[in-house]
Amino acid sequence: METVVSGIRSTGNLHLGNYYGAIQNFIKMQHEYNCYFFIADLHSLTTHPTPANLHNNVKQVLIEYLAAGIDPEKATIYVQSDVPEISELYLYLNMNAYLGELERSTSFKDKVRANPENVNAGLLTYPVLMAADIIIHKATKVPVGKDQEQHLEMARTFGNRFNRLYNHEYFPEPYAFSYGESLVKIPGLDGKGKMGKSEGEGNAIFLADSPEVIRKKVMRAVTDSGPTTENQTKPQEIQNLFDLMKVVSSEDTVAHFDNLYNTMQVRYGDLKKQLAEDMIIATAPIRDRINDIANDAEYLRKVAKLGAEKARESASKTLREVREIIGFRSF
Ligand code: TYM
Repeated sequence: METVVSGIRSTGNLHLGNYYGAIQNFIKMQHEYNCYFFIADLHSLTTHPTPANLHNNVKQVLIEYLAAGIDPEKATIYVQSDVPEISELYLYLNMNAYLGELERSTSFKDKVRANPENVNAGLLTYPVLMAADIIIHKATKVPVGKDQEQHLEMARTFGNRFNRLYNHEYFPEPYAFSYGESLVKIPGLDGKGKMGKSEGEGNAIFLADSPEVIRKKVMRAVTDSGPTTENQTKPQEIQNLFDLMKVVSSEDTVAHFDNLYNTMQVRYGDLKKQLAEDMIIATAPIRDRINDIANDAEYLRKVAKLGAEKARESASKTLREVREIIGFRSF
């Protein structure tokens, strides 16, 4: 059975981008593959969270994983820092990761541009840690959104380089995966790029948002003054609303508003109202479970402990072999 690995950083509540780009696939894949889904708390250290924030965010992702339907009986759910073998493999892979290729990574360049005061080495070697996460379980499929595609390419590069260096076909190649035809990119509500936690207040709809908050955010989404000719190409901010509708609404609803747009009869207020209600319906089952799970500290502890044990079992087997391949041998 093929192995699957994916993770989400512990940087706050999960949003619709995380859900439709990643978690929806996790939930399906857990029935078909040997799955490892983790909380990337080491990765979140690049932005220096306080200890209390870090802990709360890790807990929140765990709660939302479970609320969304990841089943700890089917998939291994764990916290990245509970598996120290990942950090060790990261160190080995770092020896064969080069400054030039790391600096060329799009996400690194974006982060430098966004925050030039905090260009730390962890940020630079972020893709190396991600490669370690994936290949430590010898995964071949990695369910992620479109924004992670380049990181997967780098994970293949680092795994292959290790294989070549030690003349050993050890790590298989991991590929980004989605059940759909292509990897998903969920747009935000700001009329620009993707939905994200750091893209500004109101851009993201969180799984934990109340119906009231969802309505408010959607009603404030950026629009234009309306189509000026029939069948015109939609500007980005309007296309984004339609793209969001495509994931939460029925085909008929999308076709209905598309038709109104094309005949210049669309009223954005109506479109947004419908979009908000469909988002509320889509997230309701998760929202309902979040509180129950959050109050069950014993269950959370149990899930994290069991997950860490299972993940360490797989990771330490790889590490033993890797150490042997590298030449760390006992006398
Ligand atoms: P992160 O925490 O930024 O996002 C977690 C997952 O959500 C997806 N995603 C989106 N998909 C579609 N549209 C969006 N607007 C959107 N926003 C986020 C991401 O593609 C991702 O799948 N580097 C990773 C975490 C990570 C990881 C790994 C993933 C660390 N190690 C190993 C897979 C395997 C990240 O920052 O994801």
